[in-house]
Amino acid sequence: MEEVLGVDFARNLVEIGNRPAREHGLINCTLQEGDASNLHKLPDQSFDLVVSIFGAMFAPNLLEVAKEQVRVTRLGRRIVMGNWIPNEPTLVEKILKISSTYTPPPPDGFVSPMTFGIESNMIERFSNAGVPTEKISFARDTFSFSFPSASSLVLDEFRKYYGPTMNAFESAEKNCRAADLQKELEDLFNRQNESPRKDATSIRATFLRVTVAL
Ligand SMILES: C[S@@+](CC[C@H](N)C(=O)[O-])C[C@H]1O[C@@H](n2cnc3c(N)ncnc32)[C@H](O)[C@@H]1O
Repeated sequence: MEEVLGVDFARNLVEIGNRPAREHGLINCTLQEGDASNLHKLPDQSFDLVVSIFGAMFAPNLLEVAKEQVRVTRLGRRIVMGNWIPNEPTLVEKILKISSTYTPPPPDGFVSPMTFGIESNMIERFSNAGVPTEKISFARDTFSFSFPSASSLVLDEFRKYYGPTMNAFESAEKNCRAADLQKELEDLFNRQNESPRKDATSIRATFLRVTVAL
């Protein structure tokens, strides 16, 4: 039987994710707490496929992510990442841009997670991890944010549960600018919503799919 292990930084999400896996008897699926830039609990060459969709790109020590992914993947197997692309007119890129204007500037030396969406950066990081350039390939792909509720309710979820928006609202509230932030994000969600129904949300967003064949 195939074994599937999910690694996430957030302990609460690991607990929430493990519950249904146990309830449905998925004994081969487990989530554990961990940092994509330091997978020290995982042995070398222990996975046939390593996938991270908009996850590892948010690691604190992002220059280590490629090295760790290469270390835990078996030779001849694959790593696949889905990463948001900087300066694209897509939902998450715009959310991050808007949010950054309401939060204090990042510390010196900060490297943006959006660099994971730049092909030359990914080539550099995987090359540093010992992967020849011809083993790294890229494709543009589309992710759909589809929800059976109005875009204002979807924004509420981002406000309550999405880290960058949560931080932006916390700062904006301190500066009495929460209403401005809410308005900017509402306009964004409404503009990008392609659903013909008012009570549904469908937002397409382009991302960079990075495939590394070891
Ligand atoms: C935007 S969500 C994406 C989740 C999921 N892959 C998806 O596509 O719906 C980002 C996830 O990455 C996790 N994350 C952020 N930094 C991480 C790190 N350094 N190591 C592991 N997980 C991390 C967050 O806790 C969150 O669950």
